[in-house]
Amino acid sequence: MPNPPLTLGLIGAGRIGRVHAEHLRCRLPEADLIAVADVDEAAARACAGQFRIPVSTADYREILADPKIQAVVVCSSTDTHTEVIQAAAAAGKHIFCEKPIAPDLVRIDQALAAVHRAGVLLQVGFNRRFDANFRRVRQAVVQGEIGEPHQLRITSRDPAPPPLEYVRRSGGIFLDMTIHDFDMARFLVGSEVGEVYATGSVRVDPAIGAAGDWDTATVVLKFVNGVVGVIENSRRAVYGYDQRVEVFGSGGSINADNNYPNAAVVSGARSIHRDLPLNFFMDRYLESYLQELREFVHAVQTGGPSPVSGEDGRAPVVLALAARKSCELNRPVRVADLG
Ligand SMILES: NC(=O)c1ccc[n+]([C@@H]2O[C@H](COP(=O)([O-])OP(=O)(O)OC[C@H]3O[C@@H](n4cnc5c(N)ncnc54)[C@H](O)[C@@H]3O)[C@@H](O)[C@H]2O)c1
Repeated sequence: MPNPPLTLGLIGAGRIGRVHAEHLRCRLPEADLIAVADVDEAAARACAGQFRIPVSTADYREILADPKIQAVVVCSSTDTHTEVIQAAAAAGKHIFCEKPIAPDLVRIDQALAAVHRAGVLLQVGFNRRFDANFRRVRQAVVQGEIGEPHQLRITSRDPAPPPLEYVRRSGGIFLDMTIHDFDMARFLVGSEVGEVYATGSVRVDPAIGAAGDWDTATVVLKFVNGVVGVIENSRRAVYGYDQRVEVFGSGGSINADNNYPNAAVVSGARSIHRDLPLNFFMDRYLESYLQELREFVHAVQTGGPSPVSGEDGRAPVVLALAARKSCELNRPVRVADLG
């Protein structure tokens, strides 16, 4: 007998909340999204109307008070995550929470303690782990297809910088952008990072520098198992969203290239070219957003474990804080020194 669908509520009906709403309503028969909350009541109503969600409210506590709802998907602004996680855990709801849990470790630890006390399942929204190409790279590492891993390279460049107002509130490039790459690095290598050396520069827009951030960064990671990794970030790649990884090892290497909207190659007298890669994360990672929710529902229905645990949510924040400190001090920083 298949399980009855998991009953869910959505908290936060903004950009990513609507992506998850569509997947839960239209592409995951094992899920039943029955309510949506957003402090912006019009946003909640619009989302409910678009995806035929029966209930909309401005107060997420109404969702937590509904005994029919077994799990929540938290897509509200980052500064609300720990409050919502603690309230949801106290109400006995399983929790999918968008990344990051929070930009600071004290609040993360409070939220994780509440989850632990309540015995509910928490999955953090590091969706790139669910991308089919990156999964294949991880599989190659696990199965020893490239021998012992020695080096990791992650290239992660956005097509264009976000608005300045967003940059000012983002917590900086390492917490906002590199955080996905820190998660990918831990996922692909399967080891913790012991030391971080980061350097940043302003090469794209002086206004980003004036806002106290960097728009160009390179991070060197020394993993506890001896692997050395490099992450390259830029806020602007003129050819579009540049998302590639390579793991090199004693027996070879495996790499994942960018995803393209088509596979056509135009050959002419002077050059051979193709169209640009998929433009940004909503296109490039769409299937991974679906797969992470599919696996969340499965984990809840089968009693776990969480595919991306609270600890997996915490570790990239530690690495981001270490990178920022390294950049400011202009020297390597031991991760253990940050707790
Ligand atoms: N995994 C990814 O690739 C990815 C992509 C985008 C965003 N995110 C994360 O998702 C979260 C939301 O980002 P977004 O781009 O959708 O932002 P957004 O601003 O478009 O949406 C956030 C929504 O939350 C609502 N909200 C704020 N406080 C609330 C509360 N207390 N209760 C209910 N609703 C509340 C806002 O009104 C807004 O509609 C952020 O934490 C962000 O880091 C993750």
